[in-house]
Amino acid sequence: MYGKVTVEILEHLKTIVGEAYVLVDNEALDKYSHDETEDLKFIPEVVVKPRTADEISSIFKLCNKNLIPLTPRGAGTGLSGGALPVEKGILLSMERFNTIIEIDERNLQATVEPGVINQVFQDAVKEKGLFYPPDPASKGSCFIGGNLAENSGGPKAVKYGVTKDYVLNLEVVLPTGEILWTGANVLKNSTGYNITQLMVGSEGTLGIITKAVFRLIPYPKFDLLMLVPFVSAQEACSAVAAIFNAGIIPSAMELMERDAILWGKRFINDTAIVIEDNTEAHLLIEVDGNDIEVLYKDCELIYQVLENFKTGEILFADDSTQKEKLWKIRRVMGEAVKSQSIYKEEDTVVPRAELPKLLKGVKEIGAKYGFKSVCYGHAGDGNLHVNIIKDNMSDEAWNNELPQGIAEIFLLCVQLKGTISGEHGIGYVQKLYMNIPFGEKMLSLQKQIKSVFDPNNILNPSKMFP
Ligand code: LAC
Ligand code: ZN
Repeated sequence: MYGKVTVEILEHLKTIVGEAYVLVDNEALDKYSHDETEDLKFIPEVVVKPRTADEISSIFKLCNKNLIPLTPRGAGTGLSGGALPVEKGILLSMERFNTIIEIDERNLQATVEPGVINQVFQDAVKEKGLFYPPDPASKGSCFIGGNLAENSGGPKAVKYGVTKDYVLNLEVVLPTGEILWTGANVLKNSTGYNITQLMVGSEGTLGIITKAVFRLIPYPKFDLLMLVPFVSAQEACSAVAAIFNAGIIPSAMELMERDAILWGKRFINDTAIVIEDNTEAHLLIEVDGNDIEVLYKDCELIYQVLENFKTGEILFADDSTQKEKLWKIRRVMGEAVKSQSIYKEEDTVVPRAELPKLLKGVKEIGAKYGFKSVCYGHAGDGNLHVNIIKDNMSDEAWNNELPQGIAEIFLLCVQLKGTISGEHGIGYVQKLYMNIPFGEKMLSLQKQIKSVFDPNNILNPSKMFP
């Protein structure tokens, strides 16, 4: 169905972006053939690294004319395969769009290119006393563009919201080649359909973002962090909603099952943090704000709530080294699981108070299908990363029976009024399950939107829809 990248097309690409930015050597093709999703690999025909929106526009026109598929890519830290060039064609790397164009301190806004690393952006605004909260675990390497594509969250989302909550306006190159701004640099906007928010979380299937305007907030001055061990993982899940119901909104509320924290500790060779034998799970709870006395009171209130649960000794981390250590253990968890076994990660999400039912259901489904799962995630958001571990499961069971087990987990999410991805997206690996949260009409509406933006289906094809 798609055309091939011929010698003529390669030459044309070189005239658009310059010879140095059109790569066909095996090393480059291999490097851009995978992201962080399982061990999946798809070799593109060519890697192209544009620098301007005009160049991307010209590339799109070439692709439409020759029906060449094009897959955009940020830093390649995605966990749903959104950046995998599954139909071959052009892999378009956005790494040269790496400028913070403006930090507008008068309006608390910033204009950023999509190839800026999340942490680099956070640090730049922090120098001005400002805060850009979305902080995926991969914040040290992931790009803002990928965060926009997946509507990334991270631990701070529970208090501060996800990527979409900070996006005001986007410059986008449409697959048909037009370059446009989707909105305005304002905090309120009731003008027309909200194309800005449609682009956020569209997983690089509707257009390529070349500039983003974000709102910022003042940086909170203080934070306190505690690690709470629970005898029962179920109780850890129940404590989550109880803390909110006591009137506290923590700035992070992370759940880590026993193996998750043990593997994270091992991954960074930590011996300082002791995990007791009778601990099934931990909550990592952070509060932040501008008044330290208020934060101590919040912690007292959290302690009171925790008295209703069987907890071990609570680790209260008030020096920055210990806080960093705890956060590091939490952030490497994904990598730690990956280094441990072949695995699949399911990005389940349910209303917060349904978390105990979700965890219980995941374990029951695991027992039925014979898989072990290690769960961790953003408990305050009801967002549980269910890591299914292959261990000594047979290939037959892994390949042929497990998908049914995963479908059951997703069905449970939907029954609990949740859905099948909270922050990692659908991409390539979850598309078969899209008929679980959506009926035919919702799927067809979404596919029609895709075809309005991309009539020839050249942009990131074979993603999101079954
Ligand atoms: C995390 C990534 C996997 O929360 O979303 O660590
Ligand atoms: Zn996460």
